[in-house]
Amino acid sequence: MLKNVKKEEWAANLLQQVNTTVFLDYEIKMIGREFMDDVMNLQHIVYESLENKEIFHPNTLKDNVTILDAGGHILGVFFERQLIAFRIVDIPGLERPNLGRDLNFDEEELKKVAIFDTTVVHPDFRGHGLQKKTLLKSREILLDQNYRHGLATVSPNNLYSVRNLLKAGFVIRQLKKKYGEIDDEIDGKLRYILYMDMQQTLPKKYKHIVHIKNHQVEKQKMFLNNGYEGFEIPIYRGIHDFTVAYGKV
Ligand SMILES: CC(C)(COP(=O)(O)OP(=O)(O)OC[C@H]1O[C@@H](n2cnc3c(N)ncnc32)[C@H](O)[C@@H]1OP(=O)(O)O)[C@@H](O)C(=O)NCCC(=O)NCCS
Repeated sequence: MLKNVKKEEWAANLLQQVNTTVFLDYEIKMIGREFMDDVMNLQHIVYESLENKEIFHPNTLKDNVTILDAGGHILGVFFERQLIAFRIVDIPGLERPNLGRDLNFDEEELKKVAIFDTTVVHPDFRGHGLQKKTLLKSREILLDQNYRHGLATVSPNNLYSVRNLLKAGFVIRQLKKKYGEIDDEIDGKLRYILYMDMQQTLPKKYKHIVHIKNHQVEKQKMFLNNGYEGFEIPIYRGIHDFTVAYGKV
């Protein structure tokens, strides 16, 4: 387990191999409760490494067990038998909070929703496209299980995550506060709600394209409320400073 290995020793040893290996020789596999300690340890390492904690909403152990029990899945990425990244996918159905409700889905469509929940990559293993690779693997699994609607929330101050989701075929559909103690929009964290029709593979053609900065919240909301969707990051200067391209199909 990561916690039990001295970080410097572990990282130095593995990094030497990563740096001398052009192709990172990792394995992606579905994992269950038996890896929950490793999942929670890795989440802790990633959370502690974040300068701005607001961009990440950590799951509790209970959240993860509920997700597995409800038919969701967790993909673990292993290098030298160490967990270096994971992705959690939730199938909320009608019983639990379902982001499809934010997009006004009816009951039939809510049943076809999969939430692309927490995803982390250990800071020493970033830059190998693991977020996108696990996303595409989860999409394959979900299509086999006949789910259609992929949904996710990402902070508008998290360039890397927004960029990876857009590159994988998600689009920004809403911008609002989520995960509040009281209710959405009152005391929550500001989040993009992203959507992907997992059965749709044809690229879309956008018209009336406008570029809006990530921190221009009201302007983005105005365009989103008028049928625009965010589809690309054409300009970026840093994790909190980028531009989103919005357009109409
Ligand atoms: C978002 C995240 C999973 C992306 O990791 P990843 O899949 O390894 O990222 P990519 O392979 O797309 O990285 C592309 C480039 O961005 C850089 N990068 C990625 N994440 C970065 C970060 N958080 N800070 C600085 N640079 C980062 C990579 O080093 C790479 O740079 P390079 O092209 O010079 O090599 C990872 O940054 C992370 O774990 N962040 C914290 C948790 C989080 O925000 N999760 C998403 C919300 S649930």
